[in-house]
Amino acid sequence: MTPPTTVPALDYKSFPMAQLQCETDTGIETVPLALEVAFSSWQPSIPERYWTMEATELAERIRAARATLGKRVVVLGHHYQREDIIQFADERGDSFQLAQYASQRPESDYIVFCGVHFMAEAADILAAPHQQTILPNMEAGCSMADMAAEADVHAAWAELREAFGSTDDIIPVTYMNSAASLKAFCGANNGVVCTSSNAGKVLEWAFQRGKRVFFFPDQHLGRNTGHAMGIPLEQMVLWNWRLPAGNLGGATREALDRSRIILWQGHCSVHQRFTVAQVEQARARYPEAKIVVHPECRADVVEAADANGSTGYIVKYIEQAPAGSVIGVGTEINLVSRLAKEHPDKTIFCLDPVVCPCSTMYRVHPAYLAWVMEELVAGRVVNRIQVPEAHKRDAKVALERMLALK
Ligand code: 13P
Ligand code: SF4
Repeated sequence: MTPPTTVPALDYKSFPMAQLQCETDTGIETVPLALEVAFSSWQPSIPERYWTMEATELAERIRAARATLGKRVVVLGHHYQREDIIQFADERGDSFQLAQYASQRPESDYIVFCGVHFMAEAADILAAPHQQTILPNMEAGCSMADMAAEADVHAAWAELREAFGSTDDIIPVTYMNSAASLKAFCGANNGVVCTSSNAGKVLEWAFQRGKRVFFFPDQHLGRNTGHAMGIPLEQMVLWNWRLPAGNLGGATREALDRSRIILWQGHCSVHQRFTVAQVEQARARYPEAKIVVHPECRADVVEAADANGSTGYIVKYIEQAPAGSVIGVGTEINLVSRLAKEHPDKTIFCLDPVVCPCSTMYRVHPAYLAWVMEELVAGRVVNRIQVPEAHKRDAKVALERMLALK
């Protein structure tokens, strides 16, 4: 077929905007797995009988399995999980809180982690040796964590060693959103893990031990934290890991010499969507509004907001706001829509009118939770997350340094 010579212009007026509207008020409804548009890229090995089950049947099955398993299982749920999952969480929290819970529940043989891969890995590292950690959908990863591959970080470290003659004065700090192998790298190199709830304290700790910090994978959390500590922008240099070795990550020698923080060029695709224009629109619409955002947002957005912090911080911020408050939120939609429902006396809305959920958190569909729980009832463990021993010891060092800093 011959392609048309001119491509017709998109008619934005007739574009189905209703389907793109923010789900702050309605929440995201669960449809059977087989109707999920992205199901083909999720874990395919879930048995077919779960594909067509409706939300109500799945909820009944999960409830029944939970009742049978009792205290042998603890279900942890990250704030970004959908309603049909979070309702089953014994504990919900931000990534720091969930790591803490995982280290404090030795009475449960199984930790079912409703969140993403790096979080379940951290739970496995911190849990007692007799405990097994399960991730309902093995395809629930994190695109930001995937931006820091072990080989790229090692290559950058080698290049920094060559450039400075030694890495003794550089402290590697990895955001929780990274593979266990990188947490192990930090543990083995006098470094540490941080989350968005303690990044400031972690950087202070690091600067007591070295002249520079090598921060990965989220440039925004690193920059926002450095900025809050009074480090000028020109002392925070970006490291472009896509460039071939020998390019100093795209930085000039002078920029590297004056740097205090070397920022990995990673980002979260969900939080990168938030803009200063959205903050301004929110303020124009509701002059009394407060704006709270996650520190994975860009520095200009964080600067324009009234407050920023982890998901746990955002939950508290809204809980503690007086009745009648109007609060625009810059974070993932499942959390924003839950907060809007839980606080009917306040006006809570998402800054981005067409924001998508975190597509990987969303992969924890109730069909997967029903499957792994029913397998446990049958005496079988599926989807176990097991960090290799070679990484576990050093990763634990880096994680425990972090836990001690809260
Ligand atoms: P929190 O630690 O704030 O829960 O953040 C995790 C995360 O992935 C945010 O995108
Ligand atoms: Fe990763 Fe962003 Fe999803 Fe958080 S919201 S899990 S950083 S992709």
